[in-house]
Order: sequence, then C-alpha cells, then structure tokens
Amino acid sequence: MSSDSNKLLCAILSAFLVYLLASFVSELFYSVDKKKVKLSYNLETKTQDLDEAVTKMEIKKISESEINQLLEKANLEKGKSFVDKNCSSCHDLDMPIKNKIGPSLATILNRKIGSLEDYKFSKALLSNDKEWNILNLYYFLEKPKEWAPGTKMSYRGISDSTKLLNTIKYLRQNSLNNEN
Ligand code: HEC
Repeated sequence: MSSDSNKLLCAILSAFLVYLLASFVSELFYSVDKKKVKLSYNLETKTQDLDEAVTKMEIKKISESEINQLLEKANLEKGKSFVDKNCSSCHDLDMPIKNKIGPSLATILNRKIGSLEDYKFSKALLSNDKEWNILNLYYFLEKPKEWAPGTKMSYRGISDSTKLLNTIKYLRQNSLNNEN
C-alpha cells in the first residue's frame, strides 16, 4: 500500500472515530439531561403534594378545643413577661383604652378585628369582619403577614409555640380582668 493511501485510510478512520465519539458524548449529555428533567419533574410534583399535605395539616393542626387544652398548661407569668418585652413598646394593655403605634390590647379577646374607633387600622384588618378569638389570635400572632397580608404590624410573629400559647393566655386573662 502506498503511503498516500495509508494517510487517506487513516484520515477516514479518524474522522469516523471522531464522529463516533461525538455522537456518544452527545447521547450521554442528552440522556443525562432527560434524567435531570425527569428528576426535577418528580421533585416538583412531590413538593406540591407535600405543600398540599402541609396545608391540610395546618388546617387540622390545631382546633379550638386543642388550643384550649394547651392553654391550660401555658404559663401566664411567662406570657406577661414576653408581652412586656415584645409587644408593649407598640401596644398598651391597661384600662382606660390608649393606643400607641399599635392599637390597645387591653380588651382584645373577642373584640372585632380592626374595630377600635380611635385607631387607624390597615385595610387588611379593617376588611376582616371576624373577631379576635383564640384561634385567630393564634394564627395572626404566629405569622402576622401571612394571616393578614398587608397588615402594618411590622412584628415578625412568634414561631415558638410555647411562647405563643403563653402570650395568648396572658392576653386572654388580661382582657377578662379589664372587662370585669
Ligand atoms: C413594632 C410595633 C409592634 C409590635 C412590637 C407588636 N405590634 Fe401588634 N400591632 C402593631 C400595629 C401597627 C398594629 C395594627 C395593624 C394593622 O392595622 O394592620 C398591630 C395590631 C395588633 C393586633 C390586632 C389588634 C386589633 O384591634 O385588631 C394584635 C392582636 C396585636 N397587634 C398583637 C400583638 C402582640 C401580642 C405583640 C407582641 C407579641 C405585638 N402585637 C407586637 C404594632 C406592633
């Protein structure tokens, strides 16, 4: 065989090899990609299911009677000192009713939401026609901005459920004392 035809054969062979390699590599990437898509798709649907499950749990998570049971075990004194520390810079808690940056909480229990006459509430609370029962207090104080989107209360909420229950126990007791 002449060296010219050798070179030609070599060139054809290496072109073929490059072609094989290229298609192998692209196949590899393509299938990885497909797997990725599938994986993220699966993850997404799983997350959605989870969200749904959590939302359902959230609704069932605490009922009025469950809260009342938990409140029996909550600590009134700790609730008072928590409120003194975390709420009283913005809220007054004594009679007669005085508003600060936030509305008075002296008579908060079962008061209609956003209803104190001398206080300028946000639309978020004004437009809510329910009352501050234990359950609404629980959800609002846990995540103010999620329960009442647009509220002007900048406080971030009480994520520790023990502290939250202590707080509610104190707000309830304080209201009952003030209304007597
Ligand atoms: C930085 C100031 C600030 C702090 C701290 C704060 N709040 Fe408020 N709070 C407000 C403001 C302002 C509003 C009025 C919200 C609106 O109109 O959207 C409000 C509204 C409320 C309401 C609704 C009252 C009503 O009459 O409808 C409750 C209940 C409440 N706060 C409880 C608390 C508790 C309990 C704490 C402490 C754990 C607390 N807040 C901490 C500023 C504050």
